[in-house]
Amino acid sequence: MPSRKKGITEERLLHKKMIELWKRGDSDYCEVRGSNIHGRGIYATTFIPKGTRVIEYVGEIIDKRESDRRGASQQRKANATGDAAVYIFTISKNYDLDGNVPWNIARLINHSCAPNCEACIVGRRIYIDAIRDIQPGEELSFDYGFDVDCFEDHPCRCGKPECVGYIVSKDQWPELRIRLDAQKTFKTKSRSSASQANSLKNADDDTLITLPASA
Ligand SMILES: C[S@@+](CC[C@H](N)C(=O)[O-])C[C@H]1O[C@@H](n2cnc3c(N)ncnc32)[C@H](O)[C@@H]1O
Ligand SMILES: [Zn+2]
Repeated sequence: MPSRKKGITEERLLHKKMIELWKRGDSDYCEVRGSNIHGRGIYATTFIPKGTRVIEYVGEIIDKRESDRRGASQQRKANATGDAAVYIFTISKNYDLDGNVPWNIARLINHSCAPNCEACIVGRRIYIDAIRDIQPGEELSFDYGFDVDCFEDHPCRCGKPECVGYIVSKDQWPELRIRLDAQKTFKTKSRSSASQANSLKNADDDTLITLPASA
């Protein structure tokens, strides 16, 4: 039977570990606020110079099999709620990081088409670094790097003049433009065929109306 003293020591160690985890996920540069982009976001509380390591994206290191399992479960939940909240980052060939833990406030950083931060992987740790000077009160953002294949599932509301309308990795924007142009051409052609069919129908209707009674 475990002694009471051992129980208290384990509890203290666990408490210490929890405090360490919360500290690692905390930052002096930013805080959580309601976002104009979506739900909650992370905002600069002070001037942040370009190149600053703003906050660590903390979480649980998991192997690929566990990652696939959690990814599928997060995706199912996301589909049900309409929020694509999947927090898994690839950190190596064998391991991923699941940031879906309450002490990871960086998980609330929204995507932007003109981001002020980027995610940097250093060994098994992920940091959010400023890629330009950030003014106090600005919302932090980075490029989620989503694949163009499912662009329609992720409309972007970053509100930047550069916004391409969808959360898609910047290096896939040329492909996104090709697909959006193809959609536009298809819609214009469908509309013009429909309007031609309508004109023909109207022409027939007119003919019926204007034909003399003797005809
Ligand atoms: C990891 S969460 C970010 C935090 C989120 N705002 C919240 O309150 O939980 C990612 C989700 O936020 C939303 N989101 C993030 N950036 C967005 C953007 N630029 N436009 C629209 N929705 C966005 C999407 O639903 C996305 O799947
Ligand atoms: Zn955008």
